Amino acid sequence: MINKLFFFFTNNRFVNSILIFLKLDRWMTDKFGIYKRIRINKKLSPQEMAGFSNVPHINEAINKTHTQLIYFINEHLRKNDEILDIGCGAGAYLKNFNEDYFCTGIDVNKDMIERGKKDLPNVNFILGSFLDQHFSKKFHAIYCISVLEFIPPSQLDLFFKKVSDYLEEGGLLFLHYPPALKKSDLYYPDLYYIEYAPKVVENAASNYLQIVKHEQAFNGRKFSEYDPKPYGKGERIFTNAYLMIAKK
Ligand SMILES: C[S@@+](CC[C@H](N)C(=O)[O-])C[C@H]1O[C@@H](n2cnc3c(N)ncnc32)[C@H](O)[C@@H]1O
Repeated sequence: MINKLFFFFTNNRFVNSILIFLKLDRWMTDKFGIYKRIRINKKLSPQEMAGFSNVPHINEAINKTHTQLIYFINEHLRKNDEILDIGCGAGAYLKNFNEDYFCTGIDVNKDMIERGKKDLPNVNFILGSFLDQHFSKKFHAIYCISVLEFIPPSQLDLFFKKVSDYLEEGGLLFLHYPPALKKSDLYYPDLYYIEYAPKVVENAASNYLQIVKHEQAFNGRKFSEYDPKPYGKGERIFTNAYLMIAKK
């Protein structure tokens, strides 16, 4: 309760700019981030537990992403290649790959990791933050879906550095994230759910990777700051995602 009140009063663009400047934004998100509070609920599907609604238009977009990712992986990887899922939740996407590839998933949420281990015993599930993790191997593909919003601005460069460090030469990144939907999102008004401008993400990624494709995930539109034509009334929903494919 005290945490919630603290967050409510401090999560605004002025305080957040200072936290980012002082590199205290990670402390804030690590301590108060919403993903820590998600608990396994047997009545919910893994998709709902990961924070997505179970309504037709969201399901349609999520199914489309599964299809895009399966196509991407099967097109570029060979059987038994190594895959890493960053922020894997309970393994909603890993279940597409665990028969044909060596799969690793990492997530900070203990309940999700435990559920994943139970459902997909041949996946190497790791409990921890990708930002701190040392992996003993490299990967032919890394994907990361609906997680960048929880990576604080001071850690964005580290995020892409680590992706690059753990990709094999020629390896690929598939990154799906919610972009800024209005001008005010560019000033970091919410450190619990950060809607980055595509140009900020592209600048950070291109320090380490070659960008192959970067566009609205479902209709291919491109914008650099915020989406001028978001789905609905600019709602924070999966349908408004942006997709980056990058290569080491
Ligand atoms: C919205 S859920 C998405 C789960 C899954 N990728 C999917 O699309 O179904 C975001 C997940 O990212 C995880 N997460 C957030 N920050 C993380 C970090 N630094 N390292 C690893 N996982 C993280 C959360 O625990 C949560 O399970």
